[in-house]
Amino acid sequence: MEKLKNIKLCVFDAYGTLFDINSVTKMNCEKLGDIAEPFSKLWRSKQLEYSWLRSLMNRYEDFWYITKESLDYAMDYFNIKDELLKLKLLNTYENINCYEEVPEVLSELKERKISTAILSNASPNMLNKAVKNSKIAQYIDNSFSADSLKIYKPYSSVYILVVEKCNLVKNEILFISCNTWDVVGAKSFGFNVAWINRFNGKKEVLPFEPDIEFKSLIELPSSVL
Ligand code: 2OP
Repeated sequence: MEKLKNIKLCVFDAYGTLFDINSVTKMNCEKLGDIAEPFSKLWRSKQLEYSWLRSLMNRYEDFWYITKESLDYAMDYFNIKDELLKLKLLNTYENINCYEEVPEVLSELKERKISTAILSNASPNMLNKAVKNSKIAQYIDNSFSADSLKIYKPYSSVYILVVEKCNLVKNEILFISCNTWDVVGAKSFGFNVAWINRFNGKKEVLPFEPDIEFKSLIELPSSVL
């Protein structure tokens, strides 16, 4: 297998990479029925779209606010008027779980003396809850949120945060994301980038390609030296 050399720090995106976003609607599927999957996709795509729109318009609100606005959009789109369901979805999102391989992967990286961090658009409160709920706090050395800059990834200053706070050069950092827009953003910034292609997706047609691609995080620890 191809190896990435001299990596001192693995930086993870949060949602979709460490935390299982689709589980939120799956756990509420008895109410959503057949539309659970398209509903989940629309909620996520609006959440991302609103984060970028708000960045471009200079109208920052934190990611929890945006998560609620985009849920309102999805509920309106599917004509769902159910306040209890809305509260349940938000509660599940707040207490989201990690993918099953995550604790083992993080622990293996620590054994290999590689530092770990999260770099996410989510607010610190969302990240703290997700990390605590997933019981992975002992494996995460640092957690960085776009909230400290009031602008969202893929704006380059968000990736700079890691370089500044960790006192490393870009080459020593591997950024890991399942999101193609984030892969492109991190690569354009100059990180080494691993794409976790969990959903059999396609690369963006933009001139910034990941250095390595995996189906899940399981293959990650053995590919960094
Ligand atoms: C993140 O965690 C939203 O998945 C994106 O930054």
